[in-house]
Amino acid sequence: MLIDGKTEVYGIVGYPVRHSKSPSFQTAAFQKAGINAVYLPFEVKTEDLEKAVEGIKALSIKGVNVTVPHKEEVVRYLDEVSEEVQLIGACNTVKNIDGYLTGYNTDAYGFIEGLREIEPDFQDKTFLILGAGGASRAVLYGLVKEGVQKIFVANRTIDKVFQIIKDFSKLNRFIQEIIIPVYLDKVEDFLSFADIIVNTTSVGLKDEDPPLFDYSKIQKKHTVVDIIYRKTKLLESAEKKGCMWQDGLPMLLYQGAKAFEIWTGKKAPVDIMRKVLQSD
Ligand code: ATR
Repeated sequence: MLIDGKTEVYGIVGYPVRHSKSPSFQTAAFQKAGINAVYLPFEVKTEDLEKAVEGIKALSIKGVNVTVPHKEEVVRYLDEVSEEVQLIGACNTVKNIDGYLTGYNTDAYGFIEGLREIEPDFQDKTFLILGAGGASRAVLYGLVKEGVQKIFVANRTIDKVFQIIKDFSKLNRFIQEIIIPVYLDKVEDFLSFADIIVNTTSVGLKDEDPPLFDYSKIQKKHTVVDIIYRKTKLLESAEKKGCMWQDGLPMLLYQGAKAFEIWTGKKAPVDIMRKVLQSD
């Protein structure tokens, strides 16, 4: 890679970011597309976020991804945000045009494109989504936009599901019939209705995390997606039952591909990005 006076800078803003896979696969994408750019990790503490966003403008950083814990907070420092950001309440991609910052959320797109790989006809299926935080909102936004008609959403804190229904009424006026709130401790009663189960909670990040429900109750007919980037206990159970399953890497890949396209206006070289992600 040749770095010179015209090299453009992109990056990821989060805390921590050391573990992030984005610098390696986005850099590979820039190289493949012949774009003179680098993509760097920027570890930013919460109290420094506003200054960091000013820094994006001052240093003419062309674009950033935003990750935990800044996805919600960053919205208030941007000049404009897309419809997805307004409804999801979180931004993971910022584009800088001459000091004017626009925020996007490519997680919904990432989830849907990943899902298409294992369930191309997902629109007619019944979903059971575990969790009602920021990641869940992105997944739900994608599913509702695609026209999915039945989605059970199970969460420990049920009020968060009601809040999503309220917020998403701008998206679809039948939202109360589409999203059905479920208490997490009753989720096993709803498994038989579901075709596709998606974990959006952080449960499973650590192997010692107690399961969200009795995973032995998963049935072979279920397709199981976990947006965590590796084979969690939930996915192991699904595999044992002979289910179709998917971890969070396809969602990561496609959210990154969409960010690349927003920044560059060019088609993302998805194959090389996938190769780098898989070898990481
Ligand atoms: P993210 O942006 O990654 O979605 P978040 O907004 O903090 O993160 O949401 C975390 C989700 O994981 C929530 O649905 C949370 O449930 P609550 O809304 O009840 O807090 C869920 N979660 C985290 N730890 C959990 C646990 N031990 N058991 C059940 N759900 C859990």
